[in-house]
Amino acid sequence: MGEQPSMETPGVPLLELRDVEAGYGPFRALFGVSFAIQPRSVTALLGSNGAGKTTVVRVASGLVAPTAGQLLLEGVDVTGRRAFRLARDGVVHAPEGRSVFASLTVEENLVLTFQQVFGRSGVKAALEEAYTLFPRMGERRRQLAGTLSGGEQRMLSLARVMVRKPKLLITDELSLGLAPVIIDEVYETLVTIRDSGCALLIVEQHVHQALSLADDVVVLAKGRVVVQGAAGELGDVTERLMPGASA
Ligand SMILES: Nc1ncnc2c1ncn2[C@@H]1O[C@H](COP(=O)(O)OP(=O)(O)OP(=O)(O)O)[C@@H](O)[C@H]1O
Ligand SMILES: [Mg+2]
Repeated sequence: MGEQPSMETPGVPLLELRDVEAGYGPFRALFGVSFAIQPRSVTALLGSNGAGKTTVVRVASGLVAPTAGQLLLEGVDVTGRRAFRLARDGVVHAPEGRSVFASLTVEENLVLTFQQVFGRSGVKAALEEAYTLFPRMGERRRQLAGTLSGGEQRMLSLARVMVRKPKLLITDELSLGLAPVIIDEVYETLVTIRDSGCALLIVEQHVHQALSLADDVVVLAKGRVVVQGAAGELGDVTERLMPGASA
């Protein structure tokens, strides 16, 4: 948690929500939500169905504008900044589900994205980088994406976003619908991403798994933060608060 030497300003969180309120039309989903994500750290955002987790991550990535409160990126007020701008600034929302082209190979999927991001001349270097971060994708580069395992497909979609070198990757129920063995694979990928220096904000139904990776934990209930702190200290409390959610 922000302990490694880094170029970030010491003490300034990577991303901070301050007293954020947000909703949908007249419906208020979030009430005074405040928490901070430290550079290179992993924050698990937990809570039961409808607690407001997805709304929080939509605010964090600029997909939903708060109706009150602030969003700060490295100490700079970016409230109201739109998702495409925040993505350029390093806050990236991982695509949900299997957002890959099934009938294209792994490499063709990557090339499509990399051409858009870097232009043709940048594709080769980007591929090398992606295969260094995700060696499995290198091994399977000629395989059709549709024939990859569910975990490998998630890995491929993460490889497509990681090339932008985000400072913060946000995932919302990345392991939804995956078999346990494949969830383990997805978590190995998240560890790789964390080790590359990217902070993570993870929304996850699998509380146990999320806590195994998290430095910090934030628990929401009915749109409010009810527990937050270091995962090591709060793991037990969190699991007791959310019985059954770690199945
Ligand atoms: N587009 C929307 N329009 C109206 N209400 C919405 C919309 N999206 C979410 N809500 C409401 O906002 C509240 C918070 O929803 P949110 O999706 O943030 O919860 P969540 O914690 O992600 O739940 P889940 O675990 O089921 O994904 C819920 O009561 C939900 O019904
Ligand atoms: Mg949700």
